Amino acid sequence: MSAEQGYQAIFNENNQEFVIAGKLRPRSEDEIRPLSEALSQALSTVRGTFYLNVKRLARLNNVAFRVIAGLVSQVGQSRTDLKIEVVTSSVMGWSTRKFEPLARRLPNVTVTEYDKDFYPGQAFLEEGGFIPILRNQTRLTWRHERHLLPRHGLNPGMTMADICCGIGDFAVLAQKEFKPSRILALDHSRSSLDYARKVAHEFGVTDIEYVYGDASEMVIEDDQFDFVTCRHSLQIFDKPDMILRELYRICKPGGRVYITNEKNSHCLGEPRSESIQWTYTEVAKLFADFRMDVELGPKSRRYLADAGFEDIKVDSFMVTNLDGDPQDFADMIQAWENVYAGEMARDRGDTPEFISKFRRGFQDHIYAALHPKGYAGWPIWAASARKPI
Ligand SMILES: C[S@@+](CC[C@H](N)C(=O)[O-])C[C@H]1O[C@@H](n2cnc3c(N)ncnc32)[C@H](O)[C@@H]1O
Repeated sequence: MSAEQGYQAIFNENNQEFVIAGKLRPRSEDEIRPLSEALSQALSTVRGTFYLNVKRLARLNNVAFRVIAGLVSQVGQSRTDLKIEVVTSSVMGWSTRKFEPLARRLPNVTVTEYDKDFYPGQAFLEEGGFIPILRNQTRLTWRHERHLLPRHGLNPGMTMADICCGIGDFAVLAQKEFKPSRILALDHSRSSLDYARKVAHEFGVTDIEYVYGDASEMVIEDDQFDFVTCRHSLQIFDKPDMILRELYRICKPGGRVYITNEKNSHCLGEPRSESIQWTYTEVAKLFADFRMDVELGPKSRRYLADAGFEDIKVDSFMVTNLDGDPQDFADMIQAWENVYAGEMARDRGDTPEFISKFRRGFQDHIYAALHPKGYAGWPIWAASARKPI
């Protein structure tokens, strides 16, 4: 409805959800009469709980707000049997504040910011503890990826998006090496984005667009980018197919989507291989308890095929202590231990005995990495595929 006015309104009867997206800035109530009639009609047909989804509503002026709030209040007051849930998003920070007064006035109206607590590992990933991990990881994987990326279709001058960009190091490196004509980097962690902007500023990089957003509901038009990357992130989201759907949507037909993921239980080292293997098998179980699949790497082909892509390419490479300074590898493992054993295992309620054995495997991996005859590895799967024309 009314795409020409910059908004869409759709009622989904199956889940009693009325979705309003885009920009709603009428000069008069008359201009949005089709919307108010559709909303009123939808409200009159539902029972139980009615969802008013404004997650992707980017703009809402007071004229439109009065119309929507008026209908919600009227129905909320007259039909106390009906629950009305307004679903907002932190990506549109104003929307929660705007609708909350309605919930304060009417006991059967609630306002839910759907992405406040929307994927299981959010607290660990968004609260800053991951920054040292991501810094070290990107430094180590870049040595491999810079050579792989052209094979997966990244060429100079392309338009590019890095979704779930974390602290943005990859975007900076890709920008320097491949000189894209446009590069957008999106993440749902404000602390990581602040960090990314600071680093870019320090390095005099000015042309990366850092955007706060939700990768499973991006406020980005369809068919925008030649090359869309999403690194180490499908594995931490409990619904990777939702993110893939969005990566597909924003990729141009004929463009490619590139993903990297791990298989943690395959981390290895010599000497002390058994202790190392035990710990990384436990890492995979720990993440699974938080509904994250850090074993996703080899499943990339299936995910890409199921999402409708073609010409799928899959590479795997092993980051090792011999790639550069072994201390870099050791620093990465130490950062893993700090978060996985120091925060996640503790939050899961593991016993001190378990945590101590768990820590031992990380220390043994560091030992293997720094030992003059030792070898330590971390395997990664890099996969890409084309969006059909
Ligand atoms: C393991 S980190 C990887 C970051 C970066 N790609 C890298 O390789 O360094 C996962 C990132 O995904 C982000 N993330 C998780 N769910 C997201 C979502 N729904 N939308 C946007 N970002 C999300 C987290 O904030 C985090 O920065």
